Amino acid sequence: MIDTEQLEAAMRRALELAANGPGAGVNPQVGCVLLNAHGALVAEGWHRGSGTPHAEVDALSKLSTDEAKGLTAVVTLEPCNHTGRTGPCSAALIEAGASRVVYAVADPGNVSAGGAQRLRNAGVEVVEGILANEAEEFLRPWLTSMRLGRPFVTVKWASTLDGRAAAADGSSQWITGPASRQRVHKQRAASDAILVGTGTVLADDPSMTARDDSGNLLPEQPLPVVIGERAIPGTAKLWEHPRGVLESGTRNLDEVLTWLFEQGIRRAFVEGGPTLASAFIAAGLVDEYLVYIAPLLVGGPRLAVTDLRIGTIADARHLDITSIERLGDDLLVTARPTGSG
Ligand SMILES: NC(=O)c1ccc[n+]([C@@H]2O[C@H](COP(=O)([O-])OP(=O)(O)OC[C@H]3O[C@@H](n4cnc5c(N)ncnc54)[C@H](OP(=O)(O)O)[C@@H]3O)[C@@H](O)[C@H]2O)c1
Repeated sequence: MIDTEQLEAAMRRALELAANGPGAGVNPQVGCVLLNAHGALVAEGWHRGSGTPHAEVDALSKLSTDEAKGLTAVVTLEPCNHTGRTGPCSAALIEAGASRVVYAVADPGNVSAGGAQRLRNAGVEVVEGILANEAEEFLRPWLTSMRLGRPFVTVKWASTLDGRAAAADGSSQWITGPASRQRVHKQRAASDAILVGTGTVLADDPSMTARDDSGNLLPEQPLPVVIGERAIPGTAKLWEHPRGVLESGTRNLDEVLTWLFEQGIRRAFVEGGPTLASAFIAAGLVDEYLVYIAPLLVGGPRLAVTDLRIGTIADARHLDITSIERLGDDLLVTARPTGSG
């Protein structure tokens, strides 16, 4: 008999395994461990990205046909019921003879959900909700994106201690120090797309690539997306981006996000400038804030956030700060809208 403590320990291990998979891309990070009747771990697996075996199939592949019979599969996400580039995991578990499947969170996908029901119909015992909070937190970007049908939106800005995104003449490179900038490059690489407004492209001519400490391109390059009606000049550095460039041609953010979701973008990293960041906030489309604060004072009119269409303090947007880190001389404040989980 396997007790709850053993199941939780197994799920914790499955979450660790899930983190080995790629954070960006269309598919979620999923981990799986297989337990024998005494709760001992006999195999483990995780998903390595689109087109590769899912976590359950990866774990099952480590055992011979007979060894999987009667096992308990502990999976971070409900086994899928979908035939894509690989077959449904629920069917693979049934075929292998698993007697019990334990998962943390239900699959919100329209085409992939239904695995639990398929398992139950085949006589497999199904338990949902083991370490559900931890798994929700771990998979928050992907789950949010699938539930809302738009990418998970992170808005990042760098500001001075007095809340300015640039000096009076528009210069803003570099407000923050090297440690902050290195962190930003890692955060870019973990996203599917970087979004900026036309104003930033025209003012700063950014390359919008994710680079390492020596300035070399990282293997993961998110897609650069420029939002706005103005055209990008033919001489812009952006045109040299290895992924090409997407131009929205519209300011309608709902439309832009739906369009990006349809192209497989699940994590969008909005890097400004102030007009675009403010438009995302005002529209209630931000899931996470990353605010880099440098110990500088520049005063002047170039605020990091401009008009949010809020006239009185009672209408202020409330955030929960989830972490504060010191990066060199700067601070990184991570926050999310209150009530968003
Ligand atoms: N400190 C930082 O973190 C940071 C980051 C980036 C930029 N900056 C600084 O910010 C300055 C540029 O500021 P900015 O505000 O002009 O840049 P921006 O926010 O990148 O671009 C603003 C433009 O985006 C377009 N746009 C697209 N969707 C929109 C929407 N829903 N609502 C309103 N406009 C939308 C509009 O141009 P169209 O007319 O083309 O539609 C608008 O003029 C530069 O000085 C740059 O150095 C600072």
